[in-house]
Amino acid sequence: MFKKLSIAAVTALTLSAGGALAAGGAGYVKDVDFSFEGPFGKFDQNQLQRGLQVYTEICAACHGLQYVPIRTLADEGGPHLPEDQVRAYAEQNFEVFDAEIDDTRPAKPTDHFPGSALENAPDLSLMAKARAGFHGPYGTGMNQLFKGMGGPEYIYSLLTGYTGEEKEEAGVTLYENKAFPGGWIAMAPPLYGDDVEFADGHDTDLSHISKDVSAFLMWAAEPKMMARKQAGLTGVIFLTVLSVLLYLTNKRLWAPVKGKKTS
Ligand code: HEC
Repeated sequence: MFKKLSIAAVTALTLSAGGALAAGGAGYVKDVDFSFEGPFGKFDQNQLQRGLQVYTEICAACHGLQYVPIRTLADEGGPHLPEDQVRAYAEQNFEVFDAEIDDTRPAKPTDHFPGSALENAPDLSLMAKARAGFHGPYGTGMNQLFKGMGGPEYIYSLLTGYTGEEKEEAGVTLYENKAFPGGWIAMAPPLYGDDVEFADGHDTDLSHISKDVSAFLMWAAEPKMMARKQAGLTGVIFLTVLSVLLYLTNKRLWAPVKGKKTS
């Protein structure tokens, strides 16, 4: 039983690593500076709000976020929208099916975002994590390790990576994209620049809005990133202090013994 399991595990690992290697090696991913990188990085609340707007107005036409509860838009460390705005946002933008009343009704903050509206458009809830790894030369993951490049960089590169070329294959239109593994994607360029208008007058060129929506999708996939980083940092500080104390204790304990030798 155990043997079988471990064989299965090893096979699965080899297969997935192989797949990821093949996928990562193919596309071009640009390094982008995000506010949440590094040990002290934080999500930029305004950027997340802009990204939410891009997602809602453009991407939600096809892509869902079915694992993300709408109420988390009010979370501190996230978009941090006021509760009443979250309620209004849910009501205005989404309809959900309620089994209790056997009908659809406007969404509430306690609901999740809906799933994908278009069958072949993947759900984006975890996309920024699913595409996190193995960027860099030959899909080694070096760029992730050294430059912190991961999922949001990939999504940014995908959105800005269209060449304008398209082709038809088995009745499906494919668009050439420098970031997409294999080079041809079935998603038409969703953004061209100036696709949205921000209330705060922020830049709406292709690069800026792509960056905003990529940051938003990173938050959607890992809303507790800040808390995790903070816990890590607290751990490091605690261990540093503990080491110093232990060192001093050690010196003190041995002082009589060592002292004898030298005197
Ligand atoms: C008109 C429908 C449509 C819209 C609008 C749309 N997408 Fe897509 N998207 C698709 C389809 C279809 C696929 C699957 C493409 C494929 O696998 O070839 C896809 C795939 C993706 C992928 C996955 C690529 C991969 O590595 O597998 C990401 C990320 C993505 N879209 C992000 C976005 C973002 C962000 C937006 C909004 C700015 C957006 N999409 C808007 C239809 C759409």
